[in-house]
Amino acid sequence: MKLFIDTANLAEIREMAWLVDGVTTNPSLVAVEKRPFREVIAEICTLVQGPVSAEATALDTDGMLAEARELAKIHKNVVVKVPMTLAGMKAVQRLAEEGIPTNATLAFSANQALLAAKCGATYVSPFVGRIDDVGGDGMELVSQILEVYEAYAFPTEVIVASVRHPQHVLQAALLGADIATVPYAILKRLFDHPLTDAGIERFLKDWKGMPR
Ligand code: G3P
Repeated sequence: MKLFIDTANLAEIREMAWLVDGVTTNPSLVAVEKRPFREVIAEICTLVQGPVSAEATALDTDGMLAEARELAKIHKNVVVKVPMTLAGMKAVQRLAEEGIPTNATLAFSANQALLAAKCGATYVSPFVGRIDDVGGDGMELVSQILEVYEAYAFPTEVIVASVRHPQHVLQAALLGADIATVPYAILKRLFDHPLTDAGIERFLKDWKGMPR
C-alpha cells in the first residue's frame, strides 16, 4: 500500500518526504498555511517525487476545467482534486480525455465511487473519518469500493482519506486499498509501540552492565 501525507505544511512534508509516495491537500489544509496556493503546490512538487493533489474550487464544470488546466501546468505530478458531484464528474471525464490526472474527492458512497471510475478518475477518495463521525462505517465503504473496482477491473486507485488514527491505516492495508493518505501526526505514530521503547530501554540497561 502506498502512503501519502495529507497536509499542505511544507515542514511536515520535508520531514516525511523520504517515506511518502505522494501528497494530498485540500482547501482547508492550504488555507492554514497562509501562502499563495500555486506557490505552495509548486514547492510541494519539488519535495516529493509523486502525485500531489490540488483541489479545484469552482462548482461548475467549465470553471473546474479552467482551474484544472492551470493547476496541471504547475508540475507534471499535480493531480486535480474534483468534488464528487455531477458537474465534477463531467469535468473528470473531460480531464481524462486530456490526460490530466484527477482525484474524485468527498466520496461517501460506493455508487459515487462507481461513477468516478466510469468517468475515468485516476483516484477516488472516500473520507472514512467523516463517515465514522456521523455514526457510519468508513472502512465498510472502502471494502465495498474495492469489491466493485475488482469486479470490473477499474484502474481507478482508492485513496483512504480523512484518516483519524493508526487503526484506519491498518484497516486500509488489510483491505488492500491502494493508498492511505495520512496526516503528519498519525504518520509519526505508526512508528511507535510502547514495547519497542521498553525493549530498547532494557537492552541498553543490560548492555551498560556488561563487562568490556
Ligand atoms: O484531504 C482530505 C481529508 O483527508 C480530510 O480529512 O480530517 O478533514 O476529515 P478530515
